[in-house]
Amino acid sequence: MKKIAIILLLITCTSQAQKLDGKKVFETYCWGCHHQTAVAFGPPFSEIASKRTKAEIMAYIISPKSMYKKFGYKRSVMTQLDLNDDELDAISDYVLKQKGK
Ligand code: HEC
Repeated sequence: MKKIAIILLLITCTSQAQKLDGKKVFETYCWGCHHQTAVAFGPPFSEIASKRTKAEIMAYIISPKSMYKKFGYKRSVMTQLDLNDDELDAISDYVLKQKGK
């Protein structure tokens, strides 16, 4: 019985690690400057989602400093965040999910 419980626990832990919650990444790294639909320090995710692709969103997060001119900004204020691949993927999907909200 104990062994089964441990195996079940392991399965739950690993499957949770694979499905990273984009909302958590948002709350950890972006919320201070972006909101889902309201203008904060940065543009709302709903607006970003209406005009960018996933690749563009990822590129901006990886390197705001090299993307801001291409995106039409005069200044680059967003900080460069060090997200891992899973976080990057999850947060980009989360941004796109705000489309039309
Ligand atoms: C220090 C504040 C700050 C943080 C933290 C921040 N941003 Fe930004 N972000 C901005 C500002 C301000 C802009 C507008 C352009 C600029 O100044 O770089 C922006 C622009 C963007 C853009 C491009 C907007 C467009 O026109 O398409 C994306 C995408 C983006 N942010 C996503 C994120 C995500 C996702 C996170 C969290 C992982 C995040 N940002 C964290 C302030 C921030």
